[in-house]
Amino acid sequence: MQRTLQRTSAFVSLAVGLLLFMLTLRLAGMPAPATAEQLFNQKCAACHAEDGSGKTAIGKNLKLRDLRSKAVQKQSDQQLYDIIAKGKGSMPGYSSELSKADIEHLVGYIRELAKKQRK
Ligand code: HEC
Repeated sequence: MQRTLQRTSAFVSLAVGLLLFMLTLRLAGMPAPATAEQLFNQKCAACHAEDGSGKTAIGKNLKLRDLRSKAVQKQSDQQLYDIIAKGKGSMPGYSSELSKADIEHLVGYIRELAKKQRK
C-alpha cells in the first residue's frame, strides 16, 4: 500500500514536472507568430484602415489610395514588397522592424483584402 502510494506520487510529480516544462518552453521559447492580419491591424491600419480603404483621419490627410483599388493591385508583389520594406513618400519603411517573411505575408494580406471586398 505504502509502496503503491509512493510510486503514484512519484509518477504524478513527474507528470506535473513535464507539463510545467512544456508550458515554459511554449511561453518562453516559442511565441505564437503574429498573423498577417494582426500585423496589418497593429502596424498599418492607423493609416490604411483595417479594411485597407485608407479611410482613417490620417489616411484622408495623406490622400491614401485604397489598397484594394485596381491602381494599387495592378502593381506586382515585388513592387508592393519594396514599398512596405523601403517606404514611399510619407510612409515609413518596415525592413528594420519586420522580417522578409512578415512583409511577404503582408503583401498576401493586401491581395486578400481586395478579394474580400469583391465578394
Ligand atoms: C504613417 C502612415 C502609414 C503607415 C503606418 C503605413 N503606411 Fe502604407 N502608405 C502610406 C502613404 C502616405 C502611402 C502613399 C505613398 C506615396 O504614394 O507617396 C502608402 C502606400 C502604401 C502602399 C502602396 C499603395 C499605393 O498607393 O500604391 C502599400 C502597399 C502600403 N502603403 C502598405 C502598408 C503596409 C503593409 C503598412 C504596415 C506595415 C503600411 N503601409 C503602413 C502611409 C502609411
